[in-house]
Amino acid sequence: MAQRIAVIPGDGIGPEVARVGVRLLSRMAELRGLPLQFDWFDFGAERYLLDGTVLPDGFMDTLRNDYAAVYFGAVGDPRVPGNEHAKGILLAMRFELDLYINLRPCQLLDDRLSPLKGKGRRELDFVVVRENTEGLYTGTGGTFKKGTPDEIAQEVEINTRKGVERICEAAFAIAEANGKKRVCMADKANVLLHGHGLWRRVFAEVATRHPQVQAKAMFVDALAMDLVRRPEVYEVIVTNNLFGDILTDLGAALTGGLGIAASGNIHPGQVSLFEPVHGSAPDIAGQGKANPLAMALSGALMLEHLGHDTEAGLVEEAVRQQVAEGAHTPDLVPMLGGPASTTEHVGEELLARIEALATRQPGAPASARP
Ligand code: NAD
Ligand code: IPM
Ligand code: MN
Repeated sequence: MAQRIAVIPGDGIGPEVARVGVRLLSRMAELRGLPLQFDWFDFGAERYLLDGTVLPDGFMDTLRNDYAAVYFGAVGDPRVPGNEHAKGILLAMRFELDLYINLRPCQLLDDRLSPLKGKGRRELDFVVVRENTEGLYTGTGGTFKKGTPDEIAQEVEINTRKGVERICEAAFAIAEANGKKRVCMADKANVLLHGHGLWRRVFAEVATRHPQVQAKAMFVDALAMDLVRRPEVYEVIVTNNLFGDILTDLGAALTGGLGIAASGNIHPGQVSLFEPVHGSAPDIAGQGKANPLAMALSGALMLEHLGHDTEAGLVEEAVRQQVAEGAHTPDLVPMLGGPASTTEHVGEELLARIEALATRQPGAPASARP
């Protein structure tokens, strides 16, 4: 049975990195006999500006019924300053497909990428488990007397017991599945007494069901500071939607930058979405400067979700090798030195590495073996 993947490249550098990502995964599928099928969709700013489409009617059902995953580039365009289409495309998929786990690994692939003195691969290796369906992202709220001096604007943070409980459970499960011993929950319960009080209570309850794992609740400001000071203390961090968004840009900066940071928007056992942490980067779009590694690593997370763990590991290995000894885009020059290369060229080198790795590993179809 084919595993169908909906590719939505989106805006800005989204299509530039998606091209590379799909090329790598298609070749991997070919060499290893994986039944992947990629279908492209043009949703994004262009289509939105043209005819108002964000996602067409019935598209969520199509995803639910016919697709195993979504491989997503980025959305965001200066011509849509309110980013309305991001709400209708990306957030809509997160909410309506109930992709409640936003998994964002922050793992250093090469010591030279660390911005922290004395902190290398051993010290920088944590994962953020971000709640992805509620918090301050639901659009609940409103404005009153808009545009007047008496204007009132209100954004309501939604925290449900069910939502908090399932993401805390997911964090402990992720820790246990990966041999991790510590889960840290980040909130602001010293000020947000209601919602984050709920997080504290539920996290403590869930922790009692996982006595093998050390559970700690922290205020998010203190955690942000400590992540820079002693990142080695952290293994799994679970937090709400907004704090997770912010902490994972910090996590990216600690591990080589947005050009390398990958993510999964996951509902276990259901169609899930994989995308780089970065956005559409309008400042470098169309210049061949976009780093495709975050998209490639998001592809590895997708392969894992689809049950292809070995191949996911091969993509990760190819990226690790690429960082260690290959060409790189300008964002990595300050850390790795050397001349800057292009998205396209990095993609070609990665493809060659994937070909070499995929045909050397046991389990490849006989015809693909050298
Ligand atoms: P951004 O992530 O697009 O860019 C931040 C900085 O990182 C920029 O200087 C950019 O050049 C650099 N950068 C990002 N990805 C890179 C890559 N792959 N290679 C090299 N450099 C890279 O964030 P922003 O500028 O705040 O947002 C731009 C637009 O993207 C906005 O409309 C925003 O809402 C949207 N956005 C979308 C997503 C998403 O689709 N998941 C995520 C974040 C931001
Ligand atoms: C991310 C992005 C999105 C978010 C935006 C584009 C809606 O910043 O995926 O990190 O805030 O979740
Ligand atoms: Mn973000």
